[in-house]
Amino acid sequence: MHKDSRMEKVVSLLARRGFIFPSGEIYGTFAGFFDFGHYGTALKRKIEGSWWDFFVLSREDIVGMDGAIISSPQVWNASGHLKEFTDPLIECGKCHSRFRADQLIEDELKLSVDGMSLEAINSLLSQHKLKCEKCKGDLEVAKPFNLMFKTHVGASEEESAAAYLRPETAQMIFTNFRSVQFTSRKQLPFGIAQIGKAFRNEISPRNFVFRCREFSQMEIEYFINPKKMDECQYLGLEDLSLEFSVLRATMQDEKQTAGRKFTIKELVDKKVIGNKWHAYLILQAYKWFLSLGIRKENLRLREHVKAELSHYSSETWDIEYNYPWGWKELSGIANRGDYDLKRHMSESKKDLAYFDEASKTKVLPFVIEPSFGLERAILTVLLDAFEEKVEIKEGKETTIVANANGQKAIGELGKDGSHATTTASPSQNAISTIEEKKNILHLSAKIAPVQVAVFPLMKKDGLAEKGREVFSLLKPKFAAEIDESGSIGRRYARQDEVGTPFCVTIDYDTMKDGTVTVRERDTAAQKRIKISELVKNIGALLNGKGFEEA
Ligand code: GAP
Repeated sequence: MHKDSRMEKVVSLLARRGFIFPSGEIYGTFAGFFDFGHYGTALKRKIEGSWWDFFVLSREDIVGMDGAIISSPQVWNASGHLKEFTDPLIECGKCHSRFRADQLIEDELKLSVDGMSLEAINSLLSQHKLKCEKCKGDLEVAKPFNLMFKTHVGASEEESAAAYLRPETAQMIFTNFRSVQFTSRKQLPFGIAQIGKAFRNEISPRNFVFRCREFSQMEIEYFINPKKMDECQYLGLEDLSLEFSVLRATMQDEKQTAGRKFTIKELVDKKVIGNKWHAYLILQAYKWFLSLGIRKENLRLREHVKAELSHYSSETWDIEYNYPWGWKELSGIANRGDYDLKRHMSESKKDLAYFDEASKTKVLPFVIEPSFGLERAILTVLLDAFEEKVEIKEGKETTIVANANGQKAIGELGKDGSHATTTASPSQNAISTIEEKKNILHLSAKIAPVQVAVFPLMKKDGLAEKGREVFSLLKPKFAAEIDESGSIGRRYARQDEVGTPFCVTIDYDTMKDGTVTVRERDTAAQKRIKISELVKNIGALLNGKGFEEA
């Protein structure tokens, strides 16, 4: 499948099945804002829950918090965002459309501009005489544009009441570091995790929810004694042999674009990644993405080149995904050192240092920050799970009805919800080749919005009532749905499209012997199972047991 058409097909599926759609669509909407429907909300909550389980609930060294979206503007002055949080903006001198200059270069010249300075961007723009994408007018010089959303607090629109929506959740963790540490009684090293909204006035939001203006971040600030950055008790021997595809900054300086395989041991021993805590937290982020079912071959690690580093970072590694539009950041893991705590200490005049009982000294911890975008994780999981299955069926007797071009088939086709075309010429009852297309989301059972769907074959003869009985057994235990309308094929197709791993059909045999048919999404394999054992068996299947074992 052509890569771009994959994105189009996924976006169309998401709108059609009510996962995600542009916000407030009935009025025509601002770009970069999205609403989530029933299935989208279920998927979002599950991915968020899986992150919280993986990084907080299953560990003893990371605690949670939930900060406000609007805080004192001094926070953003101290963090450097008011001054530094910019993207290069370019304006057309003729139609005054505004674009992100680095993206314009990427689109027009097919060049990676990661880490390019404003001067280098401007020189490329003039060297290649790039024009306005809309009217072909001349472009002005690129300037920095601050991405912070501004608002006012209280009954005043004076500049003195100006405030900002947070562009990252991280700062609330830094400003609360001392109180969370004190109340949780955690000793270094430990982390503070948070999930919440972040807002960025992106110049050109694009690629659906990949780059939006309102999104959710899942962030950990992990605090470590600066003298103990290589003392990571969690980096186990079993992990050292794990391999990653890695694109180092030095490789990018040499204009290499493909990653090369490194084991964790090599990354640590050769100091490719600066310290063991950084390597360990990158590995955890990577493992979490694998736990969502994202395929390893579509992930790689890329180091930020020097010019690309954020103002607070001395070393950043992105976990990149091979999107239809190229390898791009899925998640970033930065070494923020003591930049933030130091800045907040100096601006607030409050002591944020940690008192180390063992050495009886004050320590300003260093911070490794694994940062994740929830919407980006959702889109990535969906792109990775999407399959368009094309089945060519030959020799099927079909009533061909010609369209204006004389080439479309109906009749037998489409009964199970699939789309069909034929290459046969128009005639009556011809034997033709039929192409059936079905969408399947191969979502992991852990995060699928619906885990099991129940289909009574008919509404009559007591089957509907039996279906309701089976549904009420499953519903309290699993994310279950009942579908009573359409052919069974059409109902399977509807559930495959939203990623439901198992479907249960109630038929006439059920009424005789108390068994149902359970069908597995990925293999289409079917098994008869006793209703009395259904809850236990579906539980085992959802936990990854095969049919035989379950
Ligand atoms: N606190 C560090 C930080 O905010 P970032 O690389 O700017 O770093 C972290 O953002 C993650 O947030 C990214 O890896 C991405 O997943 C997500 N993210 C950033 N900007 C986004 C946007 N405009 N839309 C959706 N997700 C975004």
